[in-house]
Amino acid sequence: MKPQFRSGLRPRSLFLSSAIALAAAGVACAAPAELGQPVPPSNPQLVTPQIEQKVDALLAKMTLAEKIGQLVQYNDQGSSAPTAADADSAIAVNPETRDHVDALQLARKGELGSMLNVIGAAKTRRFQEAAMHSRLGIPILFGADVIHGYRTIYPVPLGLSASWDPQLVQDVSHMAAVEATTAGVKWFYSPMVDISRDARWGRSTEGAGEDAYLGSAMARAYIRGYQGTDLSKPESVAASVKHFAAYGAAEAGREYNTTDMSDIRLRQVYLPPYKAAVEAGAATMMSSFNALNGVPATADPYLMTDILRKEWGFDGFVVSDYTAVMELTHHGIALDAATATQKALDAGVEVDMMSHFYDTQIPTLLKEGKLSMATVDEAVRRVLRVKFALGLFEHPYARGTEVTRAVAAHRPLARRAAEESFVLLKNGGHGAAPVLPLSSGVKKLALIGPLADNAAEMQGAWGGAQHQPDVVTLRNGLAARMKQRGGELLYAQGTDILTDSEAGFAAAKQAAEQADVVVMALGESSSMSGEAGSRAHLGLPGNQQKLLEAVVATGKPVVLLVFSGRPLVLDWADRHVPAIMETWFPGTEAGNAVANVLFGDVAPSGKLTMSFPRAVGQEPLYYNQFPTGRPAGDADLSKPPEGATRFISRYIDVPNSALYPFGWGLSYTTFAYSGVHVSRARVPLAEANRPDAKDLVTVTATVKNTGERAGTEVVQLYVRNLGASVEQPVRSLQGFERVSLKPGESKQVTFHLGFPELSFWNVKSQQVIEPTHYTVWVGGSSLADQQADFDVTP
Ligand code: BGC
Repeated sequence: MKPQFRSGLRPRSLFLSSAIALAAAGVACAAPAELGQPVPPSNPQLVTPQIEQKVDALLAKMTLAEKIGQLVQYNDQGSSAPTAADADSAIAVNPETRDHVDALQLARKGELGSMLNVIGAAKTRRFQEAAMHSRLGIPILFGADVIHGYRTIYPVPLGLSASWDPQLVQDVSHMAAVEATTAGVKWFYSPMVDISRDARWGRSTEGAGEDAYLGSAMARAYIRGYQGTDLSKPESVAASVKHFAAYGAAEAGREYNTTDMSDIRLRQVYLPPYKAAVEAGAATMMSSFNALNGVPATADPYLMTDILRKEWGFDGFVVSDYTAVMELTHHGIALDAATATQKALDAGVEVDMMSHFYDTQIPTLLKEGKLSMATVDEAVRRVLRVKFALGLFEHPYARGTEVTRAVAAHRPLARRAAEESFVLLKNGGHGAAPVLPLSSGVKKLALIGPLADNAAEMQGAWGGAQHQPDVVTLRNGLAARMKQRGGELLYAQGTDILTDSEAGFAAAKQAAEQADVVVMALGESSSMSGEAGSRAHLGLPGNQQKLLEAVVATGKPVVLLVFSGRPLVLDWADRHVPAIMETWFPGTEAGNAVANVLFGDVAPSGKLTMSFPRAVGQEPLYYNQFPTGRPAGDADLSKPPEGATRFISRYIDVPNSALYPFGWGLSYTTFAYSGVHVSRARVPLAEANRPDAKDLVTVTATVKNTGERAGTEVVQLYVRNLGASVEQPVRSLQGFERVSLKPGESKQVTFHLGFPELSFWNVKSQQVIEPTHYTVWVGGSSLADQQADFDVTP
């Protein structure tokens, strides 16, 4: 039985009052674990006295085999030959494992705790009935990679993050949970909150980009959307926050590669979104594939026990990534299955996804005294807790009418999500006026490119269980709109995504020549990003660049739509194409959303959450870099170095800056900033250096719509801290707000800076505020230049 405070009886304030007392005494703020205190539960719903009693009672009845069963997870491979009906009831990812187990048989024996990527009311029922008729009737938890929609697909997470709209993220996540629970899925392997600063890494598409502050806001939003306020509600699903931890720092952007970083970087950049998700009540976590500082995460007690459980008070369970326990042998830290099992379990990984190690190894490890029964019981307890909290024992089967296609009533939200995700990177004039929005004078519009009429690719890397016929392609969306306007859409594919053939170029050029404006839909295939989608070249794949150049050479105004799961190198396009919009992979409503934005029914409002490089060699590239001893200052880095401009931190062949930086994105109107003001110039350290210090400085600024159309601006607040014991980034995002303004309208925006926003991690792994100088900037991107200053005084 857990200590009483786990039942919510211990007030959180005990931790705070101790920390405050220490801070007042001039001691750096320490985590509760460091103070030798138990931490409050991360999700009180998981640790109610009722749930703990139920878990105790059940545990007392379970055989070892039944306990181990709760700790293993399989897909349905090998359980029965797939039937035609099954084709629609699994999400296929990952290679097949060597070991096939009979999952149905295990379920009948009560020895299968969870299953992955088995979907559909009938299929989940087949396995669930078997489990419910087993000796103890413990339900199976069905988990699936529902990453950006179940049947109604919305933009890939990187695109979604470009909305800077946590409420939208919460709403679409909830929508996915509503759909998937009708198919028996009660657990999503999402959100992926790995910070990604390297566009080569294909999984950048699955996260919220390069920034910890924004990533944390998005992490909270996903948890709220999936889990709601009550896990036991029929439409709630448990989230699995992944991949713990620092997977996004894979060296050279190469998938599954190792990571190595200081504790400061880990805590300041990579951990915050996971922590935010845990604080928001995430029920489960997934361990990552990578090693961190030499220890594979799946066997790392520092991550899984010291940080996750002791510091953050996590009460849910950790599932390994797919075969990650087995992969400990490939990492070379376990020479056999037994050692791998022992290391993973001891570290705090409760569930073995697909390795087939826990069930084969635990009995012997126990017999040999290499593993304690207490460790096994604690692991089972954590799994059962989540099942009880989800209400699975009472409601083990799919709820309501099964959703098998995109839901009409969900399309408007999916469409809005796509519209908000688009980032207008450039909108130059072809002649006088900007090309976008398309004017009423455009009677013939040419649509060219391999993504123009491509339902399959609109889904993105994790298209859930989408049906291609549900997707509105660009061609469909734009053709309908041109017809309404009494105009005509000309279409030519031009080329494939990856080919050398130029057979379609002539038709493409011909369509362009006949049109008033050309829209080109170019980019990656959805499988070029996502898992195992690392790329060393970040240009337009195949011969699409050549096609783009050929069409631009016709002299017609071109709008380039870039479909991709990551930042691409668009330097040529930036110099030669008047209008460029990043459209990611927009999902089911792709064509309608693109039409709405191109024709100006909706003004683009997205802002980048990952920097777009000028050249691959700049990667990893991120705005919140550290200063160097030889800063480039005002030197013109577009020219080769000469004299004093050589021995500074720079490339000799490309500027340091991003082509399109973090936070960048245009609208159809313009915004101006003024009056950046801080509420006070000095803050005493004793007041500031307390974890509960909330509103130490209030920053205000005025944003005005200076154009002729309504628009939405993402107002961003950046902070720099100079003079600390540890060097700090040149600026860091610490606040943002979406503001909609009519032409000529202004609004004052207010941000509150407290300990979380102003503190940093020192060399002793303590989160502190020191007496230092702060500068804040408010503006529409990470280039914001309106500033104010204050000091934290000793
Ligand atoms: C991926 C995870 C995914 C899991 C289950 C792994 O290969 O890394 O993100 O949730 O497979 O499909």
